[in-house]
Amino acid sequence: MKKNRDSWSSRLGIIMAVAGSAIGLGNFLRFPAKVAMNGGGAFMVPYFISLLLLGVPLVWVEWTLGRYGGGFGHGTAPGIFHSIWQKNRFIKYFGVIGIFGPLVIFSYYLFIESWTLAYSVFSFLGKYQLITDQQGMKAFLSGYQGLTQNQYFSSIMPAYTFFLVTFIANIVIIYHGIKKGIEKFCRIAMPLLFFFSVILFVRVLTLGTPDPLKPDWNIVNGLGFVWNPDFSSLLNAKVWLEAAGQIFFTLSVGIGVILTYASYLSKADDVVLSGTTAISTNTVAEVILGGTIILPAAFVFFGPNDTQSVANSGIFNLGFVTMPLIINQLPFAQIFGFAWFFLLFLAGITSSVSLAQPAVAFLEDEFNISRKKAVGIFAIVAFILCQPAIFFLKNGVVDELDFWGGTFFLVLFATVEVILFSWVFGMNKAWDEIHQGADMRIPRIYRFIIKYITPAFLFIILGVWLFQEWLPLIMMKNVAASDQLYILLTRAGLLFLLCVLAGLVHFAWKKRKIPQRS
Ligand code: ALA
Repeated sequence: MKKNRDSWSSRLGIIMAVAGSAIGLGNFLRFPAKVAMNGGGAFMVPYFISLLLLGVPLVWVEWTLGRYGGGFGHGTAPGIFHSIWQKNRFIKYFGVIGIFGPLVIFSYYLFIESWTLAYSVFSFLGKYQLITDQQGMKAFLSGYQGLTQNQYFSSIMPAYTFFLVTFIANIVIIYHGIKKGIEKFCRIAMPLLFFFSVILFVRVLTLGTPDPLKPDWNIVNGLGFVWNPDFSSLLNAKVWLEAAGQIFFTLSVGIGVILTYASYLSKADDVVLSGTTAISTNTVAEVILGGTIILPAAFVFFGPNDTQSVANSGIFNLGFVTMPLIINQLPFAQIFGFAWFFLLFLAGITSSVSLAQPAVAFLEDEFNISRKKAVGIFAIVAFILCQPAIFFLKNGVVDELDFWGGTFFLVLFATVEVILFSWVFGMNKAWDEIHQGADMRIPRIYRFIIKYITPAFLFIILGVWLFQEWLPLIMMKNVAASDQLYILLTRAGLLFLLCVLAGLVHFAWKKRKIPQRS
């Protein structure tokens, strides 16, 4: 007999949880770096076009598909895709990506999330307060990550300890389930996250000019640095791909997590207004808060040239090197440092629990096992999967995992989803399904957008990407010779994981076909 599935206790709860999944390290670190690297304010043109033509429709599609699948007792893509296209024997195997993707992202996201917890403690205790330059702060970071041994850290043990604490915190939350675990936690964490980010936002906007000899290095010019458009960048295809990629990452679409969260809704629950509210919350957190905190502050202290080079050197430098140095120059540095890193930690953990849930839901729904058992199995497997990101960070393993789990498969998965929804399920049925229990109607133009524009946009992204990147990627053209074996092993491991998940889907469906005598 099928057991009762968990559910959300309120609309506010699900919106908080979905917004929590969306608002993550992507909003506060990845977004400002992308803006600075891709034409400043001009980046917002492809960003908002991607939001309207990809992000918003895909969020509605995922909420609707998730709720529909949940009605059949399926909370993950294999079962949901199968419910949509029952005649097709293979579609459920495509659904494997909806468990694989979040699991892969979880395997490296968690380690990075644990740095934010560690740094919030370090800030509070003033552990790096005496470091005043980029070089020193970089040494602190690489010592912590276990990449070098130096005066700050002699082994990876502190990092591993914080990883364990973060891992256990995630497991405890998902162990308590949807209503009593994820929802309850997000209801506390999300307001706290907004509280810390508004404090930092106000603090940055009220920064004076620290160097009287450089009056141009002020907050207004700092905002101009981020937002003044360089429209020539719009001629570059890469800028458009980066904008689309950021929309996927930040909204958590194409991953499979919204499907799973929405599967715990009932038919009478609205998806249009709730989905739109979650998108709006994420966009405010990203554009207004994420775009204003880190780069304008860096501009005030380091000026245009250094800020640009820091932004180009990647998001870890922005978050863990530049930001602590800026904060160190403010009064109450320990408090503001804590606020910054704890904000990142809350953003991270509300996202990582959502990444864990699809695998747990898959075990519960398709193998009919208890949540406790499913979380136990997940904990063991996820713990093993997290190890390469920790120990082989220096060999480029995290970037490789991020590329497959956090970029390529997202776009592929979204393409399958939107085609299934608008072409296989059929736009008339799909339109009715979206509006079941809806508190607002979607503008009719979106019928056309979802059926033609979104899939075409996705095909163009995949096509351009295949054309530009496929060969160099397969040949590992940009990988140092000493790291190639690690990258190859990572790819082999990912392939193995995909095969195991496909095997589990096969097994679950086979078991179901045999008439059960009870
Ligand atoms: N959407 C999550 C983030 O922005 C994954 O970090």
